[in-house]
Amino acid sequence: MEARLHDSPSHDGPAHDGSGRVRLRFTPAEREVRVPPGVMVFDAASWNGIAIDSTCGGHGTCKKCKIQVTSGEVPISPLDVRAFDAAQLRAGWRLACRTSAVEDLVVEVPPLETRPKAATVGVGRQVILRPAIKKRYVELATPTLADQRSDVDRLTAAIDDLELRVDLHVLRRLPSVMRQADFHVTAVIVDDLLIDVEAGDTTAECFAIAFDLGTTTVVATLLDTGTGTPRAVASMLNKQQPFGGDVITRISATMLDPEALATLQSLAQETLRELVGEVCAEAAVDPGQVYEVALAGNAVMTALVLGIDPEPLGVAPFILSSATMPGVRAVDLGLRVH
Ligand code: FES
Repeated sequence: MEARLHDSPSHDGPAHDGSGRVRLRFTPAEREVRVPPGVMVFDAASWNGIAIDSTCGGHGTCKKCKIQVTSGEVPISPLDVRAFDAAQLRAGWRLACRTSAVEDLVVEVPPLETRPKAATVGVGRQVILRPAIKKRYVELATPTLADQRSDVDRLTAAIDDLELRVDLHVLRRLPSVMRQADFHVTAVIVDDLLIDVEAGDTTAECFAIAFDLGTTTVVATLLDTGTGTPRAVASMLNKQQPFGGDVITRISATMLDPEALATLQSLAQETLRELVGEVCAEAAVDPGQVYEVALAGNAVMTALVLGIDPEPLGVAPFILSSATMPGVRAVDLGLRVH
């Protein structure tokens, strides 16, 4: 099939099959998937267990997620211009994490250069792991009078596939950790932000906790981010139970008592905190080695744990404060992890 490619995002309208979804055919695997229009090709592949090269997990910093769109129209993103020359762009080369599928596409996926991390979840379902947290172990050259680069320059030069930003609190630790560890350190990175530097090679110790915050029951799963393997699971009743068994009674409580929102928030956070203690104890993992937390819950539970007034959800026309939640720090959930 002939490629129809242009560098303008304008379209006459999505070309898909009327089901409201667009069809993506991945070659050479010959896998076909249907996704809502606008989904990134990288995500569509990842959700369906098709591995596309990446070290940044789809965050647009590694420029490794190269694909060739051999049929269908796709615009050229600013990052594509930095990753490909003009001939490659004309031939349909794009970065998958910057390519939004607004119509049916055929996508050629080159062989992997880096080994994908995948986990099996449920019955044989393979999920490509994309934790926001990354650890990189580096052995840096010791500074000399002939090499007076700053500590940050020395470190970031060794991790040149990411454009790292550095937190002030890391700068405060960096000089001593580097020297104590003889410049053999592990960089702890979230997306493109350096959040810590640890002495020696700590790449094997990197955990995350996934919470299912239910109205009745709360479940925590401690996962090894390197393999996706659950290391411990614990559950308990949501401590908000005394406020009633369903979301309506909890919304009502916040409408009747101005103190109730703070109480409900702290009860939810206490539940999460206890579960962190349980899963970490069961797996003999230090909570300081838990770098990422994901929380899923219904709209009311999510609002309450973040201290957001749920009242607009309890009365017509039932409006959310936000359809997507910003990333929050663990301390905002009352958690003492890394
Ligand atoms: S996945 Fe890293 S730039 Fe696309």
